[in-house]
Amino acid sequence: MSRSLKLLVMAVVTTAIIVVLGAVVFARLPADLHGWGGVAYWTALTLVAQAFPVKMPRGTVVSVAIAPILAAAAVGGPAAAAVVASLGITEWRELRGGVPWYGTLYNHAESAVPAVLAAVVFQVIAGNRFEASWLSLLGVALGGAVYFITNATLAALVVVVRDQGSLSAALSGDLRLISGNLLGMTPLAWLIAVVWSVAWWAVPLFALPLYANRAAYQATVQIRDMFTQTVRALASAVDARDPFTAQHSENVQRIAVDIGRVMRCNAAEMEALEWGGLLHDIGKIGVRDDVLLKQDKLTREERISMNAHPVLGEEIIKPVARLAPELPIIRHHHEWYNGSGYPDHLVGEEIPKLARILHVADAFEAMTAKRPYRMRPLSREQALAELRKYAGIQFDPVVLDAFARTQWVAGVPDPGKPALRGTPVSIVARLAGRARGGPQTGEQPAADAR
Ligand SMILES: [Fe+2]
Repeated sequence: MSRSLKLLVMAVVTTAIIVVLGAVVFARLPADLHGWGGVAYWTALTLVAQAFPVKMPRGTVVSVAIAPILAAAAVGGPAAAAVVASLGITEWRELRGGVPWYGTLYNHAESAVPAVLAAVVFQVIAGNRFEASWLSLLGVALGGAVYFITNATLAALVVVVRDQGSLSAALSGDLRLISGNLLGMTPLAWLIAVVWSVAWWAVPLFALPLYANRAAYQATVQIRDMFTQTVRALASAVDARDPFTAQHSENVQRIAVDIGRVMRCNAAEMEALEWGGLLHDIGKIGVRDDVLLKQDKLTREERISMNAHPVLGEEIIKPVARLAPELPIIRHHHEWYNGSGYPDHLVGEEIPKLARILHVADAFEAMTAKRPYRMRPLSREQALAELRKYAGIQFDPVVLDAFARTQWVAGVPDPGKPALRGTPVSIVARLAGRARGGPQTGEQPAADAR
């Protein structure tokens, strides 16, 4: 665990201990709750709800326990909320030692602090005693929003400190799914509190709608997982045709995602990089084996056939509506920054940002891996130097700066941005020739991936 992560855990856990103790000591339990027996009842309900968590695509775990926690905050105030949220979210894997102690403490802290805040918000709006009224509904809704924002921020802070990404990217990660869950949970929490105020013994009946909610939620996650696995299988089908490119797409994806993280791409862009990284060469399915696997330089006709793969890939993926954000990456991942790439000869910022990122990742992976046309892979240092040589010509200099800060070239001597120098005329002429007439020969610089 890094020093900054340790500091974050210590700060949040200490705050939570102060908040929980303060709530228990200073906030009085409402008479309706029937003392600490009532708190134990709500804690038991929350423990049951917490026993069925759903794991989100990015590792976040959510459960339906938020409904009893919010209901307990409404009927029991800050003291009940503090205890129910601290103890009620205990899981078996924690008791079995499956979660590191600091992770367990942090999980409980990131639930307890928001629960106490939600209870305070509820009491400010609806008073100390729960009644079935529009004011209490408003109190639960706003308290729920405060719970949600605080909880999501505390969870995102760990990701920010650990991966050095941006808070907005970490927050928006699973935000849509979680907020959908919360939209359903807030009115349900209020209803649970209403039923409790009439007949406390009937509250466990809510297990059924809560379980249905959880099942729907799990189905969404499973469908997404299935989709990712299918995309991965498609990508390996392309890579498997060529023994030299095994794992190429997976590696390009990982490099591209790391560059995206340094460039603080948002969640939607990161997802596009993940799937786009895997699928960028899908069009190679349509390239003949004798061209794809050729060890010598390609003839003009062969290069034209090879260079058709971005457009072909776009056509293959187009019918999949869910993959629409990946299409620009697939089509433009061989565009050059100075306009001499293909297929559309876009220049500079005309090239979609994610395609510029993928182009760098693709080139680095291609240079550092064995290829039939270049048996000896370049070292990371040589590859970085080669990328830098083509900054502003083939690659976006801003993307290269971001790449230089990733772990892929950590500790590697970096020649840095090339000094303002005239680009040799011969290179310009050669590049321009490629741009106008398309690829003339099988020749390609080291920093190019087929
Ligand atoms: Fe490609």
